[in-house]
Amino acid sequence: MSVSGKKILIAVSGGIAAYKVHFLIRDFVKKGAEVQVIMTPDAEHFVTKLSLSTLSKKPVYSDFYGDNGSWNSHVELALWADAMVVTPCTANTLAKMTHGMCDNLVIATYMSAKCPVFIAPAMDLDMYIHPSTKKNLELAEGFGHTIIPAENGELASGLIGQGRMAEPGTIFNVIEDYFTNSMSTINSLQGKTVLITAGPTYEALDPVRFIGNHSSGKMGFSLAEEASRRGARVILISGPSSQILNDKKVELYKVTSAKEMLAKVFEFYDKIDIGIASAAVADYAPKEIAKEKIKKNDENLTIELIKNPDILKTMGEKKTHQFLVGFALETQNEEENAKGKLEKKNLDMIVLNSLRDEGAGFKNDTNKIKIFTKTEKKEFDLKSKGEVAKDILNFVESQLLK
Ligand code: C5P
Repeated sequence: MSVSGKKILIAVSGGIAAYKVHFLIRDFVKKGAEVQVIMTPDAEHFVTKLSLSTLSKKPVYSDFYGDNGSWNSHVELALWADAMVVTPCTANTLAKMTHGMCDNLVIATYMSAKCPVFIAPAMDLDMYIHPSTKKNLELAEGFGHTIIPAENGELASGLIGQGRMAEPGTIFNVIEDYFTNSMSTINSLQGKTVLITAGPTYEALDPVRFIGNHSSGKMGFSLAEEASRRGARVILISGPSSQILNDKKVELYKVTSAKEMLAKVFEFYDKIDIGIASAAVADYAPKEIAKEKIKKNDENLTIELIKNPDILKTMGEKKTHQFLVGFALETQNEEENAKGKLEKKNLDMIVLNSLRDEGAGFKNDTNKIKIFTKTEKKEFDLKSKGEVAKDILNFVESQLLK
């Protein structure tokens, strides 16, 4: 399955990376896709309508209004598309998309679109890591859009860092993969019940304090939404997390501590087919929770900690028919440690993300993983967590077929 015959709406906003769009159009046209380009008024400073329309073989629009009192219907453009890709997506266009600031044809078309939306951001490194950009990328992902992360390297400003728009070939591959996978994965998990643990756990010290960690819950939420899109019944058990769940079919249970998470998991365990433990469970909890707020008196304070239950290990011990997936976040001897956990916890598969890889780990929007089973190993590129969720579930499905 390729992009042949697909209708691709390419929206260009005003950044220097706009020059790369020519190559992207060429790739789509070569593979038999129909391409319609629209652009923001600022994008016209960087590339010309003439070059874009010559390559796409269609007129290019940047304005609501055409000649002689006609108008360019954003609704028609939006409903025509099988996929929309905003490339390059500047900080400004991203902010407008995520906040409904509908003051140009690109945003009006985006807001009318029902098709999947892909976003390839491009901006200078400080803009890319600015909290507003991060928040807006999170919002866009929360809307169900696919972010094609900016890459590391030299930027137009001369600075070096993350912000370069992904290469046209990468953008093309993500969209082609979408058409290939979305066809083959519609209802591919129908009839299955998937349980996912996500987020951190908080272990109370006293009424106001806790021991916790930086896990965002993003990986688990992405897995839950993707499993649900594939037709599974999804039970998501999450520690404290600010992630927004867009898919209301997912059954979300919020817990706080490891013990609560364990209890909730075992309310469902017998009935599930697949268990995925992506939660960053605290290994230890305070032995006693002080009834009153602990006062600061002495120079030193000692808190006795006791081991928390290992939820996934318990799942492994009680496994009858469930397919179990664990995560390992390692800093040294990564592969060895991950494989050790696969055995020790009686898992069918383990997903390794190394803290040594830039962009991987639990505070990032992206992840770079390796998957191990007892006999196989597969390595993946750095991708958004939404894309990583697809890779993980594709792998699970391939194992279930064996
Ligand atoms: O042993 P380690 O904490 O590295 O194992 C990580 C894997 O085990 C993850 O899948 C995590 O969700 C799970 N785990 C758990 N309960 C714990 C500790 C880890 O379910 N107490």
